[in-house]
Amino acid sequence: RRAPIQGTYRGHEIISMPPSSTGGMALLQMLNILEGYDLAASGFGSAEVVHLMTEAMRRAFADRARYVGDPDFNPAMPMALLISKSYAEQLRATIRIDRASASSPTSFEWPAEGQETTHVSVVDADRQAVSLTYTLEQSYGSKIVVSGAGFLLNNEMGDFNAAPGLTDSAGLIGTEPNLAAPGKRMASSMTPTIVTKDGKLLLVTGSPGGRTIINTVLQTIVNVIDFEMNIQEAIDAPRFHHQWLPDQISYERDGLSPDTIALLKSRGHPVNVRVRQGAAQAIRYDEATDRLEGAPDRRNAGSTALGY
Ligand code: DON
Repeated sequence: RRAPIQGTYRGHEIISMPPSSTGGMALLQMLNILEGYDLAASGFGSAEVVHLMTEAMRRAFADRARYVGDPDFNPAMPMALLISKSYAEQLRATIRIDRASASSPTSFEWPAEGQETTHVSVVDADRQAVSLTYTLEQSYGSKIVVSGAGFLLNNEMGDFNAAPGLTDSAGLIGTEPNLAAPGKRMASSMTPTIVTKDGKLLLVTGSPGGRTIINTVLQTIVNVIDFEMNIQEAIDAPRFHHQWLPDQISYERDGLSPDTIALLKSRGHPVNVRVRQGAAQAIRYDEATDRLEGAPDRRNAGSTALGY
């Protein structure tokens, strides 16, 4: 049993998954970085916002590779530092507004990771919230059902880093904290997250999607807090992803305008189109009206929002 990881974003409390998932750490680091910018003034989908969010993603994913793995095997993980506001300030100072940074597999020393996962967001009559992501890996995991128990075993070995030193520009990660070892739990990207404001529930969310999960959750939160979208708008809005390596922004088809793409390229960002990103499920609680709004992700035919 491990305590959730906690931080804040523009006066909201963010409660998310601790290691051995990397999701909470990366999400909090990205939100801390982005807190220093007026995203709303630049506007949703602007090259400025995509650039700044990409630079936050690049840095969080680099730290994820460098530091995060099963805490039982990585007792020195500097988690408090990684999610601190002062560290985010240092990272912000390395971001140029007019230019993409470069991701390099040799930017720190190595002694060289992995996408069917389900996310459920729940709020009960007492407004207690649960955010749960359950990963099998692809296609029914290992396809083995535990007899008498009724659940499938996962196929998670692919979430360990493949081999020491195997970190390359294509996105293979071979860093030490997440190398496979007996009894060790692999580093996940699951990011089941609860956002509260003054201790009161605001948002419950999460998603499948491998490493894109972290950025999908980030964008859902930013869409609600910075861009003041209602919860379905926040889920429907086009998404993009940058994971340090490969050093590229992948964006959902029709999700960025040709002008925005040209501006991003002129800043030095390689840009690629992808089909769709994630299947986030979210609930927003409006305390003033005591209303719950559920938003299923229409990218996935299995998504639903139900009220009982
Ligand atoms: O825990 C993780 O990060 C991965 N096993 C998640 C895989 C996943 O989301 C596959 N789904 N699309």
